[in-house]
Amino acid sequence: MIVAMTIRAAELIERKREGGELADEEISELVLGFTRGDVPDYQMAAWCMAVFFRGLNGRETHALTEAMIRSGDTIDLGAALGRRVVDKHSTGGVGDKTSIAVGPIVAACGVPFGKMSGRGLAHSGGTLDKLESIPGYRVELSIDEFVAQVRAVGLAIVGQTGDLVPADMKLYALRDVTATVDVNALIASSIMSKKIATGADAVVLDVKVGDGAHGKRTLEDARVLAEQMIDLGRRAGRETVCLLTDMDQPLGAAVGNALEIREAVDTIAGKGPADFTELVLDACGRLLALSDLGIDLPEGRRRAEAAMADGSATAAYERWIRAQGGNPGLSALPTAPLVREVLAPRDGVVTRLGALAVGIASLELGAGRRTKEDAIDHAVGVVCRVKRGQEVASGDVLAEVHARDDASAERGVAAVLDAYELGGEPPPARGILLDVVAG
Ligand code: URA
Repeated sequence: MIVAMTIRAAELIERKREGGELADEEISELVLGFTRGDVPDYQMAAWCMAVFFRGLNGRETHALTEAMIRSGDTIDLGAALGRRVVDKHSTGGVGDKTSIAVGPIVAACGVPFGKMSGRGLAHSGGTLDKLESIPGYRVELSIDEFVAQVRAVGLAIVGQTGDLVPADMKLYALRDVTATVDVNALIASSIMSKKIATGADAVVLDVKVGDGAHGKRTLEDARVLAEQMIDLGRRAGRETVCLLTDMDQPLGAAVGNALEIREAVDTIAGKGPADFTELVLDACGRLLALSDLGIDLPEGRRRAEAAMADGSATAAYERWIRAQGGNPGLSALPTAPLVREVLAPRDGVVTRLGALAVGIASLELGAGRRTKEDAIDHAVGVVCRVKRGQEVASGDVLAEVHARDDASAERGVAAVLDAYELGGEPPPARGILLDVVAG
């Protein structure tokens, strides 16, 4: 219940700035007041910055999450389907098209998958932007349409509607432009409020670690964020597993909207890059093990592999895209007019491939937004043909730059070349999965 109170936002900002604690009702009224428009953006931004420096404790983070959930409608997808519902979410990275591959595989294995996704943030692309490169694909479904599609097709990925967690939608947009995205308590409550509001019984979270992760998160930071999200899941009675995964280099090869859709479709058919395929299989295995199929992780993984091999995951992808109004044919995807190769300047082994630099190069080509109003060019981006640890000879193709015009292609080639470091010795081997934290 919301306690009626006259909040003095400036006082709450000051208390947090001084390292004090806020009561549950104070957090609730601040968040709901902001959602209604009674607390202006400048005060909410100041509060987020105070939280950036002072943090929130577990109780405060839970109160924030609860308030965000109460700001709008909720869906009990499990009750609507009569099934245990599983969901996944990533903290965001470069080339992260995981949900687009995981959804159809999980659905092909007989587990319903209904997901609310977001748009790109800074140098990292968003699942919705990627899906919108598919001609006709509708990201905006009503709650009734969303539930009906998950029931009929087993799969839907939609945008955040105004009715579901509107506080997060408003706060996320504000954080994006006030340098307050990289705050663990705010990330944890943003992600978990959406998962809980859409009725997930169990959640697999992918916390990105490294150069291309927001805030260049270290493994230690990632563990802290994972524990916070697991705590929120526990308080809400949702089983939560966090994968801590490498984002020091882009995930897979493709970075850019339509290019990533192609790679996701290839991966669903078992023809994807090794690191991306490994992450997809692990996430699918865990989602299936958390579902009501009554199987363990190795069996979940085996079924995911089988769905990729026998074509049922591809069939699920096509059914899903058609149900949401899109054309699933790869030939329908936009292509860039120019493709330039980035060539190795000498012999060597790739000791580093900077995810952030590739993400920014792709953004500069037009694949992302600099401001909220920017239009996205779905065709452009980068394909990294060579990744960390691979040997190359002088003149070998390191990457391709897909560009709209000569000037942006030239800038893109220079930026991608800078993202590659060539040395004499191979770097220490590092798999995609760095750790797993479970509640
Ligand atoms: N993803 C979200 O949904 N919210 C955040 O705050 C960061 C990543």
